[in-house]
Amino acid sequence: MNYSLDIERTAAKKQKPAADRLGFGKYYTDHMFIMDYDEEQGWHRPRIIPYQPISLDPAAKVFHYGQTVFEGLKAYRTADQRLLLFRPQKNFRRLNQSSARLSIPSIDEELALHALKQLILIDQDWIPSKKGTSLYIRPFIIATEPSLGASSSTHYQFMIILSPVGSYYAEGIHPVKIHVETEYVRAVKGGTGMAKTAGNYAGSLRAQDDAAVNGFAQVLWLDGVHRKYIEEVGSMNVFFKINGKVLTPALNGSILDGVVRNSILELLQHWNIPVEERMISIDELHEAYDNGMLEEAFGTGTAAVISPIGELHSLGRRLVIHGGTTGELSAKLYDTLTGIQLGELQDELGWMVQVS
Ligand code: COI
Repeated sequence: MNYSLDIERTAAKKQKPAADRLGFGKYYTDHMFIMDYDEEQGWHRPRIIPYQPISLDPAAKVFHYGQTVFEGLKAYRTADQRLLLFRPQKNFRRLNQSSARLSIPSIDEELALHALKQLILIDQDWIPSKKGTSLYIRPFIIATEPSLGASSSTHYQFMIILSPVGSYYAEGIHPVKIHVETEYVRAVKGGTGMAKTAGNYAGSLRAQDDAAVNGFAQVLWLDGVHRKYIEEVGSMNVFFKINGKVLTPALNGSILDGVVRNSILELLQHWNIPVEERMISIDELHEAYDNGMLEEAFGTGTAAVISPIGELHSLGRRLVIHGGTTGELSAKLYDTLTGIQLGELQDELGWMVQVS
């Protein structure tokens, strides 16, 4: 398809940060993508412009009612200088699914991918190549109509910004400590838990900050009804290896359908490792631990990749998993996934999309 995309290049390129000081989401590239929506024209005026602050009316609905959705995906530079995206179609599909839940008009997924590729080509010098780094991509939509009526906006903006990143956690790829949250809940079926929308994250910050005071990287959420079934970790889906079998909570309407989660399930099936998506109670986890069968635990996410869980603090107990070190399966999954993403391993499952 032939999309017409206006491109305005910056006259002043920024200085790039050193690869070992990237952290997560602190630096932004020279350009951004933006497109507008109104009821008469639908989505229109797709354009790439110099990265810049945006000007919004203080009454814009996004500030008051949180009508907004976002995505997170990554681009990589291979040793032979190819630029690769990891399963980008899945992210634009999920963006539209989140938008449907938030009553935001859907975007053309092909146009979004085309625009993203153009943006990456223009800012390709920003894709870091050091091991453990990548270009994090943040597409998002905000409601811009200046109106204090609590109703769906008539105007929106869709933007994509790019950020060179290192690891998400201060721990890097070392195991993290997680607190099992029993006071607050993240989502319930029928709510917005399956959508990638700001409110889910805003609602999780109190618990996360309380947990951080005690040295925990994130919290593990239990379901909002029975307060006993495992859902997900702050910014990750979660997996457990129990007695040789890999378990992850089934998608139940309140859990995010993670792209890395889905990829790990595909990899495990490809390797013929037994895997189950189902309800997992916190009691089952304790029982497996007490019987010496809780072999590994790890989180999965675009930002976090595969993050081994070394300790779970749960119902007053401290469960040390795999001696607080990275398990063999977690390490193999991390090495395989990052190897495919960096073009070092064959992409047998057809995940990678070349930018040009
Ligand atoms: C991602 O993994 O890309 C996410 O969107 C999680 C975010 C909280 C960093």
